[in-house]
Amino acid sequence: MLYIGVDLGTSAVKLLLVNEHGDILGEVSKEYPVYYPQSGWSEQNPADWWEAVKSGIAELTADCDKEQIAGIGAGGQMHGLVVLDKNDEVIRPAILWNDGRTQKQVDYLNGVIGKDVLSQNTANIAFAGFTAPKILWMKENEPELFAKIKKIMLPKDYINYMLTGVHSCDYSDASGMLLLDVKNKCWSDKMLEICFVTKEQMPSLYESSDIIGTVKADIASELGLGENVKVVAGAGDNAAAAIGTGTVGNGKCNISLGTSGTIFISSTNFGVDPNNALHAFAHADGCYHLMGCMLSAASCNKWFMEDILHDTDYKSNQAPITEDKLGRNNVFFLPYLMGERSPINDTSARGTFLGMSMDTTRADMLQAVFEGVAFAIRDSFEVAKSLGIDIARSNICGGGAKSELWKKIMANILGIPLDTVKTEQGPGYGGAILAMVGCGEFESVVAACESLVEISDTVYPDEKLSSLYDEKYGTFKEIYPSLKAIFNKEI
Ligand code: XUL
Repeated sequence: MLYIGVDLGTSAVKLLLVNEHGDILGEVSKEYPVYYPQSGWSEQNPADWWEAVKSGIAELTADCDKEQIAGIGAGGQMHGLVVLDKNDEVIRPAILWNDGRTQKQVDYLNGVIGKDVLSQNTANIAFAGFTAPKILWMKENEPELFAKIKKIMLPKDYINYMLTGVHSCDYSDASGMLLLDVKNKCWSDKMLEICFVTKEQMPSLYESSDIIGTVKADIASELGLGENVKVVAGAGDNAAAAIGTGTVGNGKCNISLGTSGTIFISSTNFGVDPNNALHAFAHADGCYHLMGCMLSAASCNKWFMEDILHDTDYKSNQAPITEDKLGRNNVFFLPYLMGERSPINDTSARGTFLGMSMDTTRADMLQAVFEGVAFAIRDSFEVAKSLGIDIARSNICGGGAKSELWKKIMANILGIPLDTVKTEQGPGYGGAILAMVGCGEFESVVAACESLVEISDTVYPDEKLSSLYDEKYGTFKEIYPSLKAIFNKEI
């Protein structure tokens, strides 16, 4: 049988065709625009996702026996607010996970409702990217549109809805709405009330590998699919990436260097970071995880290369950053191009280069970008360590992990080995695995990962280089606190 894994990302949707042995038979990527209507805001049109998914599936399956396609599973960018009216029309563009417009609503939730109340009811506090503050923002700023909301959903759930007509959400993605009682896996009545939302507006909840329905007849015939293609609930992209890299069960770690940068620690037990710096979410394997999320990771590299240098030759630009340069860069970069979530939770923070002199080269600045992202991941890694979590090694995936140089920098800044798996298409492969489990190829997500996911390469840290980077990290840590007041002046 064949399975389609969908990774509904921020820059593009990536689709994989996978057989029941886990072999990847095809891969298609379709880009769509992100709109930044104001500094720190980010939006996308759900119709663009849907068109990209449809044309992507048609292209992906053009040469295969379509009758063999048994299931579809999606991992999607988390937290984005998608709202539909009573005619199933999208009411406004989706407000994305890295949108920072809701500081006022975040302050209300964390300050007036109170972090304790939020944490007791949802296991988390408010961050600007989360869905609940966006709902409050809409109520306050677009009351006439807010009044029209019939259905609230997350990005990949919009795709699942268009495919099946079923209004669903899985627990991993629902965790990032700040409306889910994560521990008990149900909507929090208290939080729905605080956000002026009813249960009828919310999707039905599922485990990630549960089948929510089959592809609707009209869509199946449009795409040339068979009659009985099952769609599973899927997962938030980080949980899906964790499945795709075999980060399941207890105490395993995955780092994803996509548009966002995340550090994801799987856990068989529910647990909360007492300071709520790390998110406490459900996992797509049926258990839980802790996660730190930085808002701009591989996107910093793309921004520096394409928007600043006007260059798309990533490889040649990295070539001058030779072994002897590592740990010895005098230029620092704060990667807060969209503000920052974990662990500093500051929508006003901005990207910053520091320490240039007349002999600074573009390669030094590019190296600073790689290092700055790795130092910012280390910030969340240090929070996890402070909770007594022992991270001895980690998987790594995402576009940034395609750079051997960046992986080496990351391994040395964290001081742990980093494993890359053979099928490095994290969320898409995770989505396909979830579809396989839903369709009965494996008895559980963990069993599927054990059988399908294989490590292909490991980058080990070097003791000397790691200690050079320890010193640099000490300096990096001092930069943001020194600039915080300036960022807050709304520069
Ligand atoms: C996680 C988060 C991001 C998005 C990116 O909390 O906001 O990783 O899911 O797609």
